[in-house]
Amino acid sequence: MILMNDFKAEPLPIREAMQAAAARVFESGWYVLGRELEAFEREWATVCGVDHAVGVGNGMDAIEIALRALDIGPGDEVITTPMTAFATVLAILRAGATPVLADIDPDTALLSMDSAERCLTPQTRAVVLVHLYGQVRNMPDWVDWCAQRGIALVEDCAQAHLAAQNGTTAGAFGAAGAYSFYPTKNLGAIGDGGMLVTREQALAKRAATLRNYGQSVRYHHPELGLNSRLDEIQAAILSARLQWLAEFTQRRREIATAYRMGINHPEVRLLTAPEAESAHVYHLFVVCCEARDALQAHLQAHGVQTLIHYPIPVHQQPPCLDMRRDPHGLGHSEYHAARCLSLPCHPQMSDADTAAVIAAVNDFSPG
Ligand SMILES: Cc1ncc(COP(=O)(O)O)c(C=O)c1O
Repeated sequence: MILMNDFKAEPLPIREAMQAAAARVFESGWYVLGRELEAFEREWATVCGVDHAVGVGNGMDAIEIALRALDIGPGDEVITTPMTAFATVLAILRAGATPVLADIDPDTALLSMDSAERCLTPQTRAVVLVHLYGQVRNMPDWVDWCAQRGIALVEDCAQAHLAAQNGTTAGAFGAAGAYSFYPTKNLGAIGDGGMLVTREQALAKRAATLRNYGQSVRYHHPELGLNSRLDEIQAAILSARLQWLAEFTQRRREIATAYRMGINHPEVRLLTAPEAESAHVYHLFVVCCEARDALQAHLQAHGVQTLIHYPIPVHQQPPCLDMRRDPHGLGHSEYHAARCLSLPCHPQMSDADTAAVIAAVNDFSPG
């Protein structure tokens, strides 16, 4: 079976580097908020081209903390997409703000600026822009759009490690970027992990306070925060795994290129290719098909695992049925959710695996 992720197939040197990193932490006797985290925060800030990075417990908390550090909360509206991990919207709710859902662009599945425009009100304070599937697009336009309206741009970079447009990396465009290091992400820990990146020192300081109960200095709590810290062991392991990230990203791009060249089924539609190679890191390679469920069953029968990101848009989840949204509706998100399918696209896939996926897709007959 060609899997969506295959950690056991990773090269032995990665396993050894992770074991060495973990051993270092055991021997240090220091497990939370120590030197490993400080080192990895510096490394990840450098990767993102920003001055500050604050390790947190997971990607969802990174979004919540970013919003709270920007003083966004009750009474404030935050525009985002319903075609995302539920965590994006849950983070906005947990910050106490009101999510407002804008529709997607059907060619990329990314937030539509026209739809976002229709969602604006005097209460709008931020856009949480999700770099879905690993793509960064139209970032100069989004930066200008937000600046002209006096609202904050928060980037959900959970799927977009190393994605860059015009030399700027995901997380460095807006006021803050929120990363997840969940194991399946392009850079993944061996458990939960996340990071907030920002160019603004004051915001980083506030985020560091918020992740640690709202504690400014030991036993002083100027505000109410979370317990959301990136453990030393995860930080050490992420540092070790970071050495492979560029190579693995390149491999994902090679697989995506092979898919774009090889998949030619008339009923399988690909999303628009990025303008520049750097702008897509292919966390997921997504195709669309009217007979999506039949295609998925066909691929499964031919030894290809697939997943759906996402089968139910956020506004159709039971707690979100009344959530505010574009007055024109969220038709493109609903259309996409019913047709999208994620093919395996991970760095351990061989050329033969990639060819087998292409052959299986092209061989599909909807019946
Ligand atoms: C787009 C997006 N945002 C946010 C998250 C939340 O990250 P985490 O699972 O680390 O909380 C994820 C991960 O599932 C994601 O894919």
